[in-house]
Parts: sequence; structure tokens; C-alpha cells
Amino acid sequence: MNIPARKLETKVLVDGGDPQETLRVKDLVGYVDGQTTNPSLIAKNPEVREVVSSGQGFTSQEELDEYKKIVRAISPLVGDAGVSIEVYADLDTTAEQMLAQGEEMFSWVSNAYIKYPCTHEGLRAAQMSISKGFRVNMTLCFSQEQAAAVYAATKGSKEPVYVSPFLGRLDDRGEDGMDLVRNIKWMYRAGDGHVHVLAASIRHLKHLLGSFALEAELVTAPSKVWEEWAAASFPVPEKAFAYKGTDKMGNDLNPIPYKELDLLRPWESFDIRHELTTKGIQQFVADYQRTLKRSA
Ligand code: E4P
Repeated sequence: MNIPARKLETKVLVDGGDPQETLRVKDLVGYVDGQTTNPSLIAKNPEVREVVSSGQGFTSQEELDEYKKIVRAISPLVGDAGVSIEVYADLDTTAEQMLAQGEEMFSWVSNAYIKYPCTHEGLRAAQMSISKGFRVNMTLCFSQEQAAAVYAATKGSKEPVYVSPFLGRLDDRGEDGMDLVRNIKWMYRAGDGHVHVLAASIRHLKHLLGSFALEAELVTAPSKVWEEWAAASFPVPEKAFAYKGTDKMGNDLNPIPYKELDLLRPWESFDIRHELTTKGIQQFVADYQRTLKRSA
């Protein structure tokens, strides 16, 4: 077992849907603070793939049971950053429908975080969840406005709330996702600290190091990126680390400018629409649907 040279400020989370991967990272790094899952990652779990590729598929209840089984296997492997479990939400799912799922999922394990999308209904579900004492992770965050709305909608939460900016997907379309993390961290400096930034959609070692340097409270990365970090002997950059990303073609990324936003505004007043949030929801729905029996 290897141990990183110096204890990180940033919590280490595995982005995946396979307990074996979590174990592998734990073995390499020495500890894992938490785990994030989503419908696409669950669809890639080896047992799920086997059932799907045999042509069998799941009923929606079987799929939920399978998700629970996976989460229960991961839960004891990770620390206090918990296991993030994503509700099924399409573009028409109401906050009440998300909350009902969240309520059930929160009972699966003692360290659950419920993932809701950064949409109007997702934020309403988060607000209701907070009042019931559930921990939440607001996912598919692509803008500073969404992060401001998360802050305002969850104010008063006794538990830390996570917001997950998706760096990689912004990079994919030529925007510097790391800027979004930087901007959110800077905006939150004026706040009460109840929202923690969980850098997500991490594609490579530079994303990981950039997130450490910005002191994101948490970072979630696939096992392959943790393996890259271990292979490089666990580097931890100084705060001044100059991250420079490129898109898939190696082109420079366009900067995302900082916006002055007032965190005390009502959350409904922020313009939280983002094309990538919509696309992300559609992709999760499609990946989930692919695991179902044709007639289910
Ligand atoms: C984590 O919570 C996210 O679901 C995940 O990081 C998304 O990563 P991707 O953009 O590689 O799918």
C-alpha cells in the first residue's frame, strides 16, 4: 500500500459504479473519502453489463435493487465524504418525484448523499431534502449562476451541501472548466461555507492537480486518474500551480470570466439554464433506459 506524500486538503472520491475499482484505489492511495455514482456509471458496472448484454435487462425495480446493492458494497469502503447516489430524473420529473426517490435512497446507507440536477426542480427537491435533514450533492453544474442558486436554495443546511462543477465536459467544448471551479470558490469566499465544491468530470492528472491547487473541498475522479496520480508518486501542487488545459484537439481553452453575483438573492432569481445540464440529464436517462428490459 502506498501513501501520498502529504495529507491533502481536498477529499478523495472515486467516480464509478464498481466496488472493485473503489477497492483498487483504496489500495493504491491508502484511503478513499467518498464515492460518486450516476446512472451512466451504474450502467457500466460489470454485473449490470452482463445482464444487459445477455439481452435480459432489468425491470425498473430490479435496476433500483441492483443500484442499492452496489451502493451498499461501496459504502463501507469509503470515509465521511459518503456515497453520492443519483435520482432518476428526466426533463419532466418533478421535485416531489425526485424527493420521493431521494428519501428512499437516503435510507440505503448511513453515509448517503443524494444527487439532484442543477435545475429548477432539482433545486426545489434539494431545498425540501435539506429541511428533512438529507445530505445533497447538486450535480451537472456548468455555471456560476447554478452554483449561486445552490448556495441560496440550501442555506441553513446543517450538513455540508456539495456542488459538482463538471470540468471535463466544459473542456470538451473548448471552455476552461477549471475557471468555473475557481470562480465558484471565489464567489463562495463571502459565504458561510455550507456548500463544498466537488470538482467532477475529471479526465486526467492535470485536472486533478488543478483541483488540488484551487483547494476544492472534494474531487471525484475515475480509477484510471487515481492510478495516474499514484504512478506519478502522488504529486500535490502548490497553490500557485499554473493549470493550462486544452481541448481534445490540443487547442487552448477559452477562459470563463468571473461574475459578481449576490449570494443573498432568492435562488429562483438566478438564470440557471444551461445546455449541458439538459444534455447531461438526457444522457443519464438514455444510459438508464438501456439497462431496462425492452418491455419494462
Ligand atoms: C460525478 O459526480 C459525475 O457524475 C462525473 O464526474 C461525470 O463525469 P463525466 O463527464 O466523465 O461523465
